[in-house]
Amino acid sequence: MEQVLAALRAAAEPTRLRLLALCAEGELTVSELTEILGQSQPRVSRHLKLLCEAGLLDRFREASWVFYRLAERARGGALARLLVELLPPNDATLALDRERLAQIKRQRAEQAAAYFRANAAQWDRIRSLYVAEHEVEAALAALLPRDGIRDLLDIGTGTGRMLEIFAPKVERALGIDLSREMLAVARVNLERSEQRNCSVRLGDMYQLPLPGASFDAVIIHQVLHYAERPGQVIAEAARMLRPGGYLAVVDFAPHDLEFLRGEHAHRRLGFTDGEITGWCRAAGLEPGDVQHLPGEPLTVSLWPARRPGGAEASPRAASSDHQVAAS
Ligand SMILES: C[S@@+](CC[C@H](N)C(=O)[O-])C[C@H]1O[C@@H](n2cnc3c(N)ncnc32)[C@H](O)[C@@H]1O
Repeated sequence: MEQVLAALRAAAEPTRLRLLALCAEGELTVSELTEILGQSQPRVSRHLKLLCEAGLLDRFREASWVFYRLAERARGGALARLLVELLPPNDATLALDRERLAQIKRQRAEQAAAYFRANAAQWDRIRSLYVAEHEVEAALAALLPRDGIRDLLDIGTGTGRMLEIFAPKVERALGIDLSREMLAVARVNLERSEQRNCSVRLGDMYQLPLPGASFDAVIIHQVLHYAERPGQVIAEAARMLRPGGYLAVVDFAPHDLEFLRGEHAHRRLGFTDGEITGWCRAAGLEPGDVQHLPGEPLTVSLWPARRPGGAEASPRAASSDHQVAAS
């Protein structure tokens, strides 16, 4: 009982309720919260500390950035969510906070879009600076079953590279991306390689413009580190899967290359296995065996997961297959 009382006491203050309402909308940094609330940073930090100590918020650090989000732990998180639900939707202060938050999100989106616009044509080259591309692609091909994928979805398709690799193995492949410039590059690439069963479409990974349970496999390759709400992207990917369908997430293991954030718009500096498998489980998926491909300086991790149900397909195994699939 003492814990609940402490949490209620911590929340019983106007600024702290506003902070809970804001953190319910996504992961936010102290400076973003300070900008929205219009209060001094030390003051906001003190409120955040109290909310974390009371178990209502989680705090996590990534190099020099500290993010806050509603607690995931059962009791603190449930209470925080309940309190946020009880807040009146038409409250003027909360409405203004939401407006400022929306503006910050627009700025972030604009920065990311500007980056992608500037880099659309050279993305393939930039990616090859970080990882041994063919190795990752072979490992990814090995994660997905040999037969039986009719419909494949590539979330954040960029230049359409994943579509080009997997198109010969599937009946239909669809790529979704938020950047028109990236889609323009993807279209050119798909036309050039004569992949007639592939298409690309403008869409947001948080709200895919597609009916649920319509794909046998979903790939999220080097996209999640741009996500402000990675768990929600995985949940949306899970929604797309038919029973028995496969998800493959490929991204960096945790690292401290801060310049990727500053110069390349990365939102997250990699992910732990626990984070990704936790989000998969929360989305109703069964995580599979994780693979790590160590590189210099970045390690690429592959996280497979499967939606329960359906018939088990035979996974690829022979390395010669990988070469074929990834070539
Ligand atoms: C690093 S590229 C990776 C592209 C591709 N998956 C690959 O590996 O070649 C990341 C892509 O994610 C896309 N992206 C970022 N935010 C997105 C969102 N909210 N919805 C859909 N796509 C998004 C970007 O436009 C970009 O094309």
